[in-house]
Amino acid sequence: VADLRFPPGFMWGSSTSSYQIEGAAAEDGRTPSIWDTFSHTPGRTEGGDTGDVACDHYHRFRDDVALMSQLGLGGYRFSVSWSRVQPTGRGPAEQRGLDFYRSLTDELLEAGITPVLTLYHWDLPQELEDAGGWPERDTALRFADYARLVADALGDRIKLWTTLNEPWCSAFLGYGSGVHAPGRTDPADALRAAHHLNLAHGLATQSLRDVLPASAEVMISLNPAAVRPRSDSAEDRDAARRIDALATRVFTGPMLHGRYDEDLLADTARITDWSFVQDGDLAAAHQPLDGICVNYYTPSVVSAVEPDEDGPAPERRDGHGASEHSPWPGADRVVAFHQPPGEQTAMGWSIDSGGLTELLHRFHREAPGVPLYITENGAAYADEPDSEGRVHDPDRIAYVHEHLAAVHRAVEEGVDVRGYFLWSLMDNFEWAYGYGKRFGIVHVDFATQVRTPKSSAHWYADVARTGRLPAL
Ligand code: FCB
Repeated sequence: VADLRFPPGFMWGSSTSSYQIEGAAAEDGRTPSIWDTFSHTPGRTEGGDTGDVACDHYHRFRDDVALMSQLGLGGYRFSVSWSRVQPTGRGPAEQRGLDFYRSLTDELLEAGITPVLTLYHWDLPQELEDAGGWPERDTALRFADYARLVADALGDRIKLWTTLNEPWCSAFLGYGSGVHAPGRTDPADALRAAHHLNLAHGLATQSLRDVLPASAEVMISLNPAAVRPRSDSAEDRDAARRIDALATRVFTGPMLHGRYDEDLLADTARITDWSFVQDGDLAAAHQPLDGICVNYYTPSVVSAVEPDEDGPAPERRDGHGASEHSPWPGADRVVAFHQPPGEQTAMGWSIDSGGLTELLHRFHREAPGVPLYITENGAAYADEPDSEGRVHDPDRIAYVHEHLAAVHRAVEEGVDVRGYFLWSLMDNFEWAYGYGKRFGIVHVDFATQVRTPKSSAHWYADVARTGRLPAL
């Protein structure tokens, strides 16, 4: 098999997020976010792990950028902690917080690494949650102000911006199943949150356009689902349609087309009448975008079940954590999720790169002419150093290899994909799973903060340097 060559200029990067790596939770004016509160609530995270220290990246960012530079990475996607730069979620900026992101950005630029900034990767200032959080419309307005504040401070040095990371998780895991912060479990609130995240994306995009130079690129990172019906029956295909609406079209509808699809409104009519959607909201959410960013890990396999209000809820092997509450409003008793056959990562997520090719084609069709990026893809494995201190992770190399081949296929078939950001640069706080799930290409010893590039890091560095995927 010949090496696969990627287009010249294809961006090879890695991804992280603020709460998962920064630590320094109470330094330089930062106030708690919903993830501080949630992780400090007993029973919410594996082993009671918190992001108080995490990878201590706030103090070690220079070393971390040096590491990326040694690996020859061309891009780095990070997120800004809202409560670090605007502590109560409203009002004036905290200069020390902005200075941190300025220094980080300057360090990246000096190393020749393109910064890609995400405004929101799930760490809502706790004060905004206390005022109602994402189910409350005002949170979207606050987000637009915050976007302006960050753009004012960093717009002279950052060209690539994304508004939200995976709003599906913020809405449906945060307010539906409750496995993510703030841990609330009301299906109507989850749908309200989804709408206000759509609105927040649109309003923030307008703020960024006001402030940033015309050359800036504004994008969104979504985690669309690659949904497969378990059989070809009409019922199973209808189950897949429902999940596609709740997982993907609830965001792509407003953001890319300025509408909520009729089937989504009908499927959820018993939960909400959607009267929180005000005149002009859909137009506001529907902003021209310079790129669409896809995060992809695993597909979903679903089947229909006969609704039985008194019986036990159907099986839910959807990979989104154990909770008696479903993150699928209106589908919780009529759709079952199944574990696809075949190999799995340490998350229990099955490996199927076909879903990635499929999703890239989908966005290519739905948003013609808009460039695509993969802003997250990667795998958790139980990596530990051997007796010589080396970390061998052939399974991760195989996973990334397979997914890069899937990206290459889409490119060959005419899809405009501009870059790939591996999740993650280093092992970090994996939300409710704590530090036990390691996604990094760099191993982190959390007791000593020693970083050790795994064999996947050396392998990926080679791919990045040559722009070629060698046969395995
Ligand atoms: C995504 C998140 C990211 C990380 C990976 C494994 O859903 O955006 O922060 O947790 O999953």
